[in-house]
Amino acid sequence: MNKEVIIKKTASYAKQKLSGEASGHDFWHIYRVWKMAVYLAKKEKADLFVVELAALLHDIADWKFNDNDKEGSILSEKWLQKLKVDQGIINQVCHIIDEISFKGAGVKNKIKSIEGMVVQDADRLDTLGAVGIARTFAYGGYRQREIYNPDKKYKLHKTFSSYKNSQSTSINHFYEKLLLLKDLMNTKTAKKIAQHRHKIMEQYLSEFYQEWEAKK
Ligand code: NI
Repeated sequence: MNKEVIIKKTASYAKQKLSGEASGHDFWHIYRVWKMAVYLAKKEKADLFVVELAALLHDIADWKFNDNDKEGSILSEKWLQKLKVDQGIINQVCHIIDEISFKGAGVKNKIKSIEGMVVQDADRLDTLGAVGIARTFAYGGYRQREIYNPDKKYKLHKTFSSYKNSQSTSINHFYEKLLLLKDLMNTKTAKKIAQHRHKIMEQYLSEFYQEWEAKK
């Protein structure tokens, strides 16, 4: 099977597994990450095949919805073996899937390959800007979080379990994760895009607080 067919089949597999998902991790998230990852991979000279496969499979089983952290890479390995992808490539893809998620402000990032960096950057960019704002409230609603509560202060989580189990507000999520990401981008290309999206979120938040206090 040639690479193009493998990518096509993997895209339909992801679409079939994730369509209609309502927490902001639906197939269109995968689609955006995939497109962005391809753009970054070309700019950063990363291996396109590994990048595309990892981007397409990176949320096939997200840790936020699964107790088994390895579920995503286990599913991906099975899928890619079925397509007879080279085991060396499968290992690279699965390593990226295992390590890509943001697990709290103080938890160390273990991604080292340029392919991993590119996919992680693309995934993070999709949590920023206009789309990121929409996803934050969609996810908050899904988790039955308040939009905002001035009495609840945000917290920078030092461990993954404290981040994962936090019952924060959606607005706090900007401070606990989204506004930290522009400084955590791996690649130069992503840093530039992140700066623009960061500004959009800052403008949004300042408008939000003004409206909250009925300022015109
Ligand atoms: Ni993702």
